[in-house]
Amino acid sequence: MTMLNKPVGIIGTGSYVPEKVLTNADLETMVDTSDAWIQERTGIKERRIAPEGVNASDMATEAAKKALEAAKLTAEDIDCIIVATLTGDMAIPSTACLVQANLGATKAAAFDLSAACSGYVYSLITASSYINAGLFKNVLVIGVEVLSRVVNWEDRNTCVLFGDGAGAAVVSTVEAGYGMLGMDMGADGSGGMHLCIPSGGTALPPTTERREEGLTFIHMNGQEVYKFAVKTMGKTVLKALEMANMKVDELDFFIPHQANTRIIKSAADRLHLTEDKVFINLPKYGNTSAASIAIALDEAVRAGQLQKGDNLAVAGFGAGLTWASLVMKWC
Ligand code: COA
Repeated sequence: MTMLNKPVGIIGTGSYVPEKVLTNADLETMVDTSDAWIQERTGIKERRIAPEGVNASDMATEAAKKALEAAKLTAEDIDCIIVATLTGDMAIPSTACLVQANLGATKAAAFDLSAACSGYVYSLITASSYINAGLFKNVLVIGVEVLSRVVNWEDRNTCVLFGDGAGAAVVSTVEAGYGMLGMDMGADGSGGMHLCIPSGGTALPPTTERREEGLTFIHMNGQEVYKFAVKTMGKTVLKALEMANMKVDELDFFIPHQANTRIIKSAADRLHLTEDKVFINLPKYGNTSAASIAIALDEAVRAGQLQKGDNLAVAGFGAGLTWASLVMKWC
């Protein structure tokens, strides 16, 4: 089985993170935690926080502008915008529509995709499928989160983990032999309640009482999510490699979802990848959910760590529970 009939890949990336830094030392003054605990259990040193008035659509727009510039395209060249997020500006319109208006991408269809931390990889796969089918030529994929607004800043189990930011990629046809070669995506809804925001949808609309009970914030069974992540990360990459007809030792670079360095190390060990092949920026940003791989990919590209012809794997996991991975030859 091959993934696509046409060569489809990423032709430009961009990212944006807010300036405000919240360090572990800052958190020590807010909840009963310590820099040592956070670093030892998660690898996180600091995270970025969006100021009031800066929303998901604003950060997504900034990241998108940089991706368009890198791809040498204008907003008018974009046929579709997919925004992966769990912290969009509003229920409707979608954040993708707000970004479409901000950019002036008047020819683009626009929609949000909900797959939490796997959302960016789900969206890349969706974009490449549209292009492969001949429906669109250029698709703008964005992962963005303002998790600081759905985190309970009194809950040390969760508030130390998350951060805000955005990353974008332009997906288009590429030179033969390059681009997306293999993918894997899946879900296990039976584990959905291990990582959820109970109130905010239509089942439990947010009321003052529900807010006071903390139901509008992220609730997480950390240990269950940890076990799921460790079990899933290596497995999903191996499946994508199989579709790409590639062996693990042919991989040059791995960009995992940035949630926890222990989870990343366990996936890297399972794949027998040496440290130099694994990209980690988690200490700077924490877990930015759908934005995490998107920001990491842009940083790796801009730092010159990815070269044309490199075999790259990206893999995400998260709420749903969901997972997704992609193997591509960088172009
Ligand atoms: N500071 C200090 N202590 C903390 C703490 C914090 N920020 N958060 C939790 N603790 C405490 C707990 O209360 C517990 O105390 P107790 O033993 O007195 O009850 C103790 O530390 C151990 O908690 P535990 O949950 O067993 O820690 P852990 O080793 O499993 O690490 C996580 C917790 C959250 C770091 C880890 O489970 C994890 O990373 N899970 C995956 C989370 C994730 O990736 N989520 C996003 C998915 S996209």
